[in-house]
Amino acid sequence: MKILIIGSGGREHALAWKLSQEAEVLAAPGNPGIAELAQCFEIASNDFAGLEALCNREKPDLVVIGPEDPLIAGLADRIRGLGVPVFGPGRDGAALEGSKALSKELMVEAGIRTAAHQTFLEPETALYYSLQRIQEVGGVAVKASGAALGKGVVLCRTADEAEDAIQMMMVDQELGPAGATVVVEDLLVGFEFSLLSLCNGKEFWSLPVAQDYKRALDGDRGPNTGGMGTYSPVPAVSPALVAQTEADVVGPTLHALRARGIDYRGVLFTGLMVQGGQPYLLEYNVRFGDPETQSILQRMGPGLGAALVACALGEPIPEVPVLDQAAVTVVAASRGYPGAYRKGVPLSLPPAGDGVTIFQAGTNSVEGQLVTAGGRVLGVGAIGTDLAEARTRAYAWLEAADLEGLYFRRDIAAPETLA
Ligand code: AMP
Ligand code: GLY
Repeated sequence: MKILIIGSGGREHALAWKLSQEAEVLAAPGNPGIAELAQCFEIASNDFAGLEALCNREKPDLVVIGPEDPLIAGLADRIRGLGVPVFGPGRDGAALEGSKALSKELMVEAGIRTAAHQTFLEPETALYYSLQRIQEVGGVAVKASGAALGKGVVLCRTADEAEDAIQMMMVDQELGPAGATVVVEDLLVGFEFSLLSLCNGKEFWSLPVAQDYKRALDGDRGPNTGGMGTYSPVPAVSPALVAQTEADVVGPTLHALRARGIDYRGVLFTGLMVQGGQPYLLEYNVRFGDPETQSILQRMGPGLGAALVACALGEPIPEVPVLDQAAVTVVAASRGYPGAYRKGVPLSLPPAGDGVTIFQAGTNSVEGQLVTAGGRVLGVGAIGTDLAEARTRAYAWLEAADLEGLYFRRDIAAPETLA
């Protein structure tokens, strides 16, 4: 079996690592870590013509699309049009992530529990509603409707905060067109988890649950990021809570998509907040999470490739065994991220010890020297018999590596942070 992975981040490295255990893997464009496992082609994920030509030449049995941008722009449709099976939704399904206004509409249509909300095109009405809700429920989340690389959500507990957020998105247009429409929703309070379900258009099968740390600094301080670390399993999320989430959220979503004529084949990633014991849906993503995938895939047994092919073909999804192990991933990011940071800092990675896997994200190779090339540079993954052992292994590697110019959170999967 030949699988082409599109993308160049830590998520794609994790996919290449897992899938190369059972298939020949190609990647476009990939990164230096992926290049150790797969043949890489220098074609960007937004170069649709280049990717089509690559598919015509290499004739992969499956294409897995990693990032949301090409999905939202319709890459899956283009490649399916060539007769190549694709794991990843078409443009219609990917709009669940491309438009928060649409995703909220679908949540309501499907009767899914979510924060009360309204959608606005005018800053004055957005502000008026925000102030009203802050008085009534204590806070709001102001969200840019379009995809804004994790910067499109501002949690506001005061009138000033809401005013600043609306000013930034709608008036100053700092997020570009993504902020032209905003969704204002009630602030929920609880703990979060991510459920990633593989979908074949009609049915789904969920991967093990993971939890992500979105803030840059220890103790959930600092700005929001794409994710600074993950762990799996999540002790606070019982099998019953997963079953309830599947019944109340994932199933109804797939059903509502089908009712709209959308044949959703790919990952449906639901970001959930548990408040009062009930799962509330915060958001959909239409792809594997990053860095959730790094932790989740470390816990998977063989057969992921076959499951992804089955989804791509709309066939019954074979279950993939889940190892009785815990996994932790700690992201090492460029100092300054998610703000401005330096690139091109040389990296030297010591060998990964027992149970440790290093996933590369923002790296590049310049004349044979590995250098930093992005905000999130590495995902240091480790498995163990429990979270404590996995965590000890990941941090032992990071301490020994002493990576110049990088920082990482020290509390990923720490007992006091477990929900
Ligand atoms: P989203 O992109 O919609 O998932 O929002 C990003 C992050 O903002 C989420 O992972 C939550 O941590 C937080 N968030 C979003 N919506 C809410 C809400 N209604 N109440 C509390 N926190 C929220
Ligand atoms: N880690 C969150 C995401 O992939 O969106």
